[in-house]
Amino acid sequence: MRRLTIIYCILLALSCTSKKEEIINTIALENSLLSLSVAADSLNVPWDLQYDQENNYLIFSEIRGEIKKLDLNSGKVSLIKKLPNVFQQRTTGLLGMALYQARESDQYLFLSYTSKVNDQIFSNLYRYIYKDGELSLPKLLLQIPGNTGHNGSRIMVGKDQKVYWSTGDAAIDSNAQDVKRLNGKILRLNLDGSVPKDNPMANSYVYAWGFRNMQGLTQGDNGMIYTSEHGDAVEDEINFIMPLHNYGWPLVEGKNAPKNAADSSKAKSFTTPIQSWTPVIAPAGIAYYGSMKIPEWRNSLILTTLKSQSLRILKLSEDGKAVIDEYTLFKDQLGRLRSVITLPNGDIYFCSSNRDWNPQKGFPKPTDDRIYKLSVSDQNVGQVVRPNKTEATSTQEVSGKMLYESYCASCHKADGKGIPNTFPSLEKSATVNGDIKALANILRNGLKDKTIAGVKYDALMPAFSFLKDEETTAIINYIRTHFNNQSSTITTKQLKQTN
Ligand code: HEC
Repeated sequence: MRRLTIIYCILLALSCTSKKEEIINTIALENSLLSLSVAADSLNVPWDLQYDQENNYLIFSEIRGEIKKLDLNSGKVSLIKKLPNVFQQRTTGLLGMALYQARESDQYLFLSYTSKVNDQIFSNLYRYIYKDGELSLPKLLLQIPGNTGHNGSRIMVGKDQKVYWSTGDAAIDSNAQDVKRLNGKILRLNLDGSVPKDNPMANSYVYAWGFRNMQGLTQGDNGMIYTSEHGDAVEDEINFIMPLHNYGWPLVEGKNAPKNAADSSKAKSFTTPIQSWTPVIAPAGIAYYGSMKIPEWRNSLILTTLKSQSLRILKLSEDGKAVIDEYTLFKDQLGRLRSVITLPNGDIYFCSSNRDWNPQKGFPKPTDDRIYKLSVSDQNVGQVVRPNKTEATSTQEVSGKMLYESYCASCHKADGKGIPNTFPSLEKSATVNGDIKALANILRNGLKDKTIAGVKYDALMPAFSFLKDEETTAIINYIRTHFNNQSSTITTKQLKQTN
């Protein structure tokens, strides 16, 4: 009788834990089948995902300042805390988090958010005591200058029990190369916020430098640290992080040569990325996959991307120092993807970011944003998809439309309409339809602080001086003859004469 009761209880518990999740896709790998399902929906820009292994909760941040938990047993989402004083505008807000549960006592949630006092913007690193999905006793560990963009902010507690915080350059390029400033760096702190005695520079938080705006931070099973980072108009990066290495921003980008001849002599002292992308893809969260559950993906970085709207699998070499293969999944299907986490049992969770400042065509869907689950499955349900091997794209001899979509549409949008008050519309724009020389100079040098049709833009337009003259000509001709513009076109020779 007793045994029956126990069996009955186990069955009951099992039936509770297996809440039915609708499978959207089956993913066919070489030897494994995975299923993609929705674990939570109707969220507002979830930014970071953490796992509470004691309670089987997914703890996540939403950009407006809410910390929530998704109980993976029941599938229920509930609010843990709404933070006061979060400054949310465009890309600022409540961003990275790291849950630390290595000790039974003293469990912590580290989090990073932007605040604004008078006219000053800050990035803050806070530590809360965490216990069973509840937060208490906030402690401000570090406050550094912030800006309306480029605040970085992923956090990780390393295998060495130190806190790593990836900071953005706060939109001031020179910060990244100034070793005394804490922007544009990876900082390393003790759990209580003090400077570790074994940091590479005495009495300094700085662990590595030369960064623009990191959006992903993870550590491999063997302790190796990786970041993902946004380039300006070219060369998004994945970096393998080593103490006190200089990753080159703003003097070099990606695998390119230094921008100024004067910096060429220094080029050797910059560490090049293990992977980079031009045209840019806007890489976001990354998570190391070390589980044997999906053998095809063991020793990979799983990467979410915003602009290219896809999940990428970056297969690492045995020693972890190179990316040897890249695969793309869910291209344009789920929208912008922001963050990803791998669980000890081999499941992968990742989230969309379709309600953020820069929604793509066809998004947000009514039940965005969502947290998705990717796990091994034994059934073949829904549409079957296969990862595509990503080949390096060549920009030679491509059309103006393709160039426009690669380089301009992330901001000005495929239809040229931009986003009101954020990115100007190119439709019937006086500049687009006006003097060719002025237009060519905007493409060569970028643009900032202009008032266009009565609006002053916060963001700046990056310089596209790296484009070949043929490519710049093709883009100019495309924007002058599309988006309801009907202006004359030019030849490459005419473009050269404007220089
Ligand atoms: C990262 C976002 C971004 C990208 C990518 C971008 N732009 Fe812009 N663009 C802007 C912003 C912001 C402005 C307004 C800047 C200001 O005046 O402060 C702007 C301004 C312009 C203007 C001036 C519009 C007017 O009416 O005066 C033109 C023309 C333009 N962009 C063309 C392009 C083209 C062509 C590309 C692709 C090669 C491109 N932009 C890529 C953000 C972007």
